[in-house]
Amino acid sequence: MISFLDKDFSQLNHFLNTAKPSKLLILVDENTHEHCLPLFLGNMETDIPFEIIEIEPGEELKNIATATQLWEILSEFETDRKALMINLGGGVITDLGGFVSSTYKRGIRFVNVPTTLLAMVDASIGGKTGIDHQFLKNIVGTFAHAEKVLVSTDFLKTLPFEELRSGFAEMLKHGLIADEKHWNDLISIDDLTADHIAPYIEQSMKIKENVVEKDFKEQNVRKTLNFGHTIGHAFESLFLENNAPVLHGEAVAAGMICETYLSLTEGLVAEKTAQTVIKNIQRFFPHLSVDHFKAEDILALIFNDKKNTHGQLNFSLITNIGSCTFDHPIAAESIVSALEFYKKLK
Ligand SMILES: NC(=O)c1ccc[n+]([C@@H]2O[C@H](COP(=O)([O-])OP(=O)(O)OC[C@H]3O[C@@H](n4cnc5c(N)ncnc54)[C@H](O)[C@@H]3O)[C@@H](O)[C@H]2O)c1
Ligand SMILES: [Zn+2]
Repeated sequence: MISFLDKDFSQLNHFLNTAKPSKLLILVDENTHEHCLPLFLGNMETDIPFEIIEIEPGEELKNIATATQLWEILSEFETDRKALMINLGGGVITDLGGFVSSTYKRGIRFVNVPTTLLAMVDASIGGKTGIDHQFLKNIVGTFAHAEKVLVSTDFLKTLPFEELRSGFAEMLKHGLIADEKHWNDLISIDDLTADHIAPYIEQSMKIKENVVEKDFKEQNVRKTLNFGHTIGHAFESLFLENNAPVLHGEAVAAGMICETYLSLTEGLVAEKTAQTVIKNIQRFFPHLSVDHFKAEDILALIFNDKKNTHGQLNFSLITNIGSCTFDHPIAAESIVSALEFYKKLK
């Protein structure tokens, strides 16, 4: 399903000629319109009629109001069930475009062309689509697979550094939970540039695809993809509430440090391994200043996130570099210690 595009995007053109959609709807945001659409259209060779649909960038618009507008636009364009939506953008575009496609007329086909690192290695694969509603992220959505995920690392050339680094956190996670060699390859990178990261993107995508194939509905092993995310999400929400949002990958990097500490205190991972993991995450990511966050607020968010009020939470924790367990019960006090540990790290 994943194809790396040649310079002339021949796989895209071949796919369009075989799939023969009645119409193409190319969804972009303002930034991908400016930075990515020229390369995309410059290489697309087809007689199929197409429309460009542009939305403003940002997570704030990944909501039902935008989805409604998009359904209306599809209707106005007299889109039939043989049409194909092309989501050209980051995770907001692939999540929203996937959601709108999978619900319009009970589902039209869609292709993801991810243009951020995070969308390449994470959001564009795995068949989850979604929108946010009333402060709850991805609370409404569908399970729906893209027909294809078409990847060109050339798109990364215009991606701001912080966005690149944010996606890199998910790549490190893939190494930690499933592939020691991948982790070693990634930590051998000296400075994070698109060129240095590009050779390892395919392996990260494969790791995610492989985990999802084994457990599409997240009953078991897919939970390992949540490593670093339980505490990471809580950090992300608190920074947002304080009007100082941090990027997802920055919060996940801090979350992975805390959850590696939990892996250590639970006796799942050797001390030396935990130190190596933490030291390397620190090498790539700045310390988040969480001093003003109260443990009780973090715990409340985690309990809320997990919909679990029995004083015990289940975590995905690493057992070595390249292996991860899930559904490991953790007491609230241990989370407080992990938070204290992180605060002292700076
Ligand atoms: N469905 C899933 O399994 C899944 C997994 C992970 C994340 N997500 C979702 O992904 C979203 C985050 O994705 P994201 O980090 O890609 O955010 P994003 O789509 O908001 O992109 C980040 C920013 O980069 C800009 N941009 C995109 N490509 C660019 C390029 N090539 N050059 C310059 N600028 C560019 C965008 O306009 C935006 O401003 C979240 O909504 C999250 O919930 C979904
Ligand atoms: Zn993530």
